Amino acid sequence: MKKYNRYLVTSALPYANGPVHIGHLAGVYVPADIYVRYLRLKGEDVVWVCGSDEHGVPITLKARAEGVTPQDIVDKYHNIIKTSFEEFGISFDIYSRTTSPVHYKTASDFFRVMYDKGKFIEQTSMQFYDEEAKVFLADRYIMGTCPHCQNDRAYGDQCEKCGSTLNATDLINPRSTITGSAPVMKETKHWYLPLDKYEQFLREWILDGHKEWKANVYGQCKSWLDLGLQPRAVSRDLDWGIPVPVEGAEGKVLYVWFDAPIGYISATKELTPDWEKYWKREDTKMVHFIGKDNIVFHCIVFPSMLKAHGGFILPDNVPANEFLNLEGDKISTSRNWAVWLHEYLEDFPGKQDMLRYVLCANAPETKDNDFTWKDFQSRVNNELVAVLGNFVNRALVLTQKYFEGQVPACGQLTDYDRDILGELPQLRSSLEENIENYRFREALKDAMSIARLGNKYLADTEPWKVVKSDPDRVATILNVALQITANLAIAIEPFMPFTSAKILKMLNIESFGWQHLGRTDLMAAGHQIGTPELLFEKVDDSVIEKQLQKLADTRKRNQVEESGGGKIEPQKDTISFEDFGTMDIRVSTVLAAEKIAKTKKLLKLTIDTGIDTREIVSGIAEYYTPEELVGRQVLVLVNLAPRELKGVMSQGMILMASDPATGKLVLASPVDKVKNGATIG
Ligand code: 2FM
Ligand code: ZN
Repeated sequence: MKKYNRYLVTSALPYANGPVHIGHLAGVYVPADIYVRYLRLKGEDVVWVCGSDEHGVPITLKARAEGVTPQDIVDKYHNIIKTSFEEFGISFDIYSRTTSPVHYKTASDFFRVMYDKGKFIEQTSMQFYDEEAKVFLADRYIMGTCPHCQNDRAYGDQCEKCGSTLNATDLINPRSTITGSAPVMKETKHWYLPLDKYEQFLREWILDGHKEWKANVYGQCKSWLDLGLQPRAVSRDLDWGIPVPVEGAEGKVLYVWFDAPIGYISATKELTPDWEKYWKREDTKMVHFIGKDNIVFHCIVFPSMLKAHGGFILPDNVPANEFLNLEGDKISTSRNWAVWLHEYLEDFPGKQDMLRYVLCANAPETKDNDFTWKDFQSRVNNELVAVLGNFVNRALVLTQKYFEGQVPACGQLTDYDRDILGELPQLRSSLEENIENYRFREALKDAMSIARLGNKYLADTEPWKVVKSDPDRVATILNVALQITANLAIAIEPFMPFTSAKILKMLNIESFGWQHLGRTDLMAAGHQIGTPELLFEKVDDSVIEKQLQKLADTRKRNQVEESGGGKIEPQKDTISFEDFGTMDIRVSTVLAAEKIAKTKKLLKLTIDTGIDTREIVSGIAEYYTPEELVGRQVLVLVNLAPRELKGVMSQGMILMASDPATGKLVLASPVDKVKNGATIG
């Protein structure tokens, strides 16, 4: 095993085109945070760098859609993302951004060194060009009809309806999303990194040299290499990004996936003048934490860039996670199918560790996993409240109760006490081995085993029963329980830093290091502990139902939008004044309402139209209960030809607004009360 003297940890730079959600945390930032906190507790020399990825086409598209500049978009989301990470205790040493001046220079210089060394090939190709806007069109700027499913809103790289991957040239009737005009083909020049030349190096380095990488990462690399690598363009025709720093490259910028990983270097430069120590010495262990969609860039492309440039170390490992789904569906920023971190904190203020815990316990380490609110509730209630919180609370409350908050002296230990305490060093070894091998779920189980051990110890020794007959024995029992509590505070710190800090505060201890874990003399006899407080509260059913309702509303909105709704209906053909005059609309009052049996949508309403009392069947049962309707004034088209619906003769129509955003029906009513029978016109 190689001996390393320092660590450089990177985590994928999130795109600054939306806030961050639970998928980001579970896939990348919680595991990386656990790893780094562990290294820091061990006193290792470690830097952890990250930042916002602020270039790329989606950001320009979003800016165009919102009528603002790309800089406005990235400024907004960079701040939201940075704040969310801080609030969740994601403890980067620096959170930078790829629009920073240091990054512009670093990425430009990097390109220039490769260029001067002749590492690129220049190639011309034909690409779509918008003659009105005078720009080359990235795939996402081209729309047309999908050749597979005839969807007329397919993008130049993908049809979101049938899921096919497309080339822009596959589209039928392509059009520019900027001007709507039909694009033409025009020649353009780009710089390519000939990845095929790095195949041999990559095979030896990864396939022979890193068999220990996670199966999903190793497997993806192997299949890329087995398929054969092709040159990849590292520049784009775009007006947002870092200009290609060579003559004759006007209007061309570095491809976002070329500049983004260099962002790791720029961030380290911003962090410390000593940055070269982390990037250039072979005794630095570099680890990239990423999601599975980034594997090829971190294992194939970026290492080839580093190798081509020369002078940089390569990663020792790239622990990529699979994806986290939400309630059975893929998390999606554009479809708002996510639990956003800033929204979670509005609903669960101060409860970051609950989410960190659940996301680690259920992390998609080896396969895609599902986050469900029910699972969140049961893990919080059955594990955090019932195991961790319960043990710490019992140990501290009993110490307060029997010894006025002073750590009692440890008397003669029984064999059982020794067995229990003897488990602590074993748990420490297992925990270390799991963290060092990026098995964070298992590591969390080890940490929680300390709380389980404590609970079992108190349940078996029953100090509350022994106290009358043998107070000295109770002193020993609580001394042991407090040593376990102190161990627990250390072991959970990487996973739940806020809870660890609370326990330390209650123990009245400044701090511990990793070297203390496994020891049984951490709480000295006579030491005064603080006031016990509950660490976690149970999550009620009503809280979970509220979250599920929020998702159900989103699902419904998406369905409406995907079925072509969400759009404002175009105006219908003009009618004459006389045509309008044929409609007799009256203000009426609902006298009675009842559900029509065996239907979901229909209500039978008894209406006072001012002219008469009549029955009308209306399809509003999904939006209003009968009780909500009785007594309300509504507008009724009274001269609509009667028709029979479910055995009821319906005489007229209640007028409703159909909300384009949600598809919901909303009653149209007079703003002020008027007499029934009042005409509308
Ligand atoms: O997939 C993503 O969200 C990218 N923004 C990750 C970039 S990682 C790195 F290379 F910067
Ligand atoms: Zn399609």
